[in-house]
Order: sequence, then structure tokens, then C-alpha cells
Amino acid sequence: MKEKLTIEKAKKISAEYLNKVEDKRLREFLLIHSSKVAEISILIGKVKKLDIESLEIAGFVHDIGYFISEHDHPKNSLDILVKKKFEIDEKLKDCVLNHGANDEPQTEEGKIFQIADKISILDQETLSIFLNDKPLTKEEKEFLAMMLSKASMFLSRL
Ligand SMILES: [Fe+2]
Repeated sequence: MKEKLTIEKAKKISAEYLNKVEDKRLREFLLIHSSKVAEISILIGKVKKLDIESLEIAGFVHDIGYFISEHDHPKNSLDILVKKKFEIDEKLKDCVLNHGANDEPQTEEGKIFQIADKISILDQETLSIFLNDKPLTKEEKEFLAMMLSKASMFLSRL
């Protein structure tokens, strides 16, 4: 018997798994990032009359797979939800699996979610994690540059 994944459960799972990410900066980023992506996908989703609940849930759970590894984290995130026997519809699956910069989401929710994942980075709270206490590493610079370039590219799709 599958269990319904509610927004409350998604928030709890998000905190549970993201708090296990070892790197402090990455952990702090992912915690803030996940709720920002949820917020921004709701904003866009409302205007486009999409499934807001799936978008919000996806925001919280799409990066939980980072706790295993960054590589393949979308698939890891989905695997965690499958193992926990949650109901996963096509929209949620598309959002989680295809949020990467080079993926091609199939559903309208997935397309919006991919955009929200990138443009959410343009936010003081998110950037302050990277700019706060120590210089950016080469990897962090590359990550931010990738997110920002994709954000500007994806904005034109809205
Ligand atoms: Fe993300």
C-alpha cells in the first residue's frame, strides 16, 4: 500500500536527509535552496495554472539524494521516495528526475520546476551562504556560474 506524500511529509523528509549532507556550506545551501525552489515554483505555477502541490513537494524533496552523492542525485532522490513507498505521480517524478540543467522535462510542471531550480539562486539569502565566511572555491564558482547562466537562459522560457 502506497502512502500519500503530503507537503508536511515532504518538508520533514527534506530536513531529515539534507541535514545529513556532510559539507556545511552545501548543507546550508540545500536547505534554503529547497524551500526557495518550492516558493518560486508555486509563484510561477499559480500564474500558469499548474499543479501547485506537486511543485511544492518537488521543491522540498528534489535534492535529498545529495546525501548519497551529488552525482546522480536526482535519481537518488527519487529512489529514496520509492523505497519509502510514497505515491509518485508523473509530474512529481518529472520534476525530481529532470531538474538538471541538461535534462528535458516532459510535463509542464517539470519544465517550470527546472526553471525555478535555477532562478532561485538569485536571492540574497542563498548567495550569502556562499559569500559569507570564506572565499569561494573553484567548484563553488563554477556551480554558481552554471546556475546563473542557465537561469538567464531559462528565464526566456517563462
Ligand atoms: Fe535544486
